[in-house]
Amino acid sequence: MVSVSPIIRKLSIPEFTINAPVLVDVYIQAMNYDKAIRDTRIEVWRRNSQNPGFTAVTALVDDQVVGVAYGFNGSPDHWWQHQLRRGLRQLGGPTETEFHIISDYFEVAEVHVHPDFQGHGIGRRMMHELLQDKASSYAILSTPEIEDEANKAFSLYRSLGFTDLLRHFRFDGDQRPFAVLVASLPL
Ligand SMILES: CC(C)(COP(=O)(O)OP(=O)(O)OC[C@H]1O[C@@H](n2cnc3c(N)ncnc32)[C@H](O)[C@@H]1OP(=O)(O)O)[C@@H](O)C(=O)NCCC(=O)NCCS
Repeated sequence: MVSVSPIIRKLSIPEFTINAPVLVDVYIQAMNYDKAIRDTRIEVWRRNSQNPGFTAVTALVDDQVVGVAYGFNGSPDHWWQHQLRRGLRQLGGPTETEFHIISDYFEVAEVHVHPDFQGHGIGRRMMHELLQDKASSYAILSTPEIEDEANKAFSLYRSLGFTDLLRHFRFDGDQRPFAVLVASLPL
């Protein structure tokens, strides 16, 4: 395997906003999404950067952006938290522990590595950088379900200590089932 030496570093909010088109391109390539979503995603990502606790990390190889991860503090005002609460309610919860979790978490909204650079430890390093020194007690993320958890995303999250909060959960407006995973911070 070719060895790569990426620079992993945080992005300020202005850096994130200016570079949003390039960062979204990495996301589209990593997820193999249609380019038609580009402009909408750029707008959503820029809006997300206004959330309290917003933190973004990038990976650079020879000045090329090859990875991006970002997140922000969870909030009862966010659509995403409403969805999680609905999911927990459907299972009879939230339990006391789940209530603590959804009251005090950092949402890992996105983590992506360009396909040419996956499997070199970049995702792992970005997650550590992103979740370093967080005030929140937990990190929560969601990832599409895949049989036997057989992809790099599940492998990465499991090896970082993420455990199940919800499984086969369907967010409103998305037909795909998702796993919602949680880890105690610090990792
Ligand atoms: C998921 C993703 C961010 C992980 O980043 P990455 O840089 O490829 O992952 P890393 O190299 O840091 O590997 C982390 C772990 O993944 C696993 N992994 C690495 N390469 C793997 C491979 N070829 N097959 C299966 N698991 C693998 C290992 O468990 C590894 O842990 P280790 O370092 O202890 O061996 C990246 O692969 C990606 O962008 N995938 C496509 C988009 C995506 O799924 N994003 C997340 C959506 S929620």
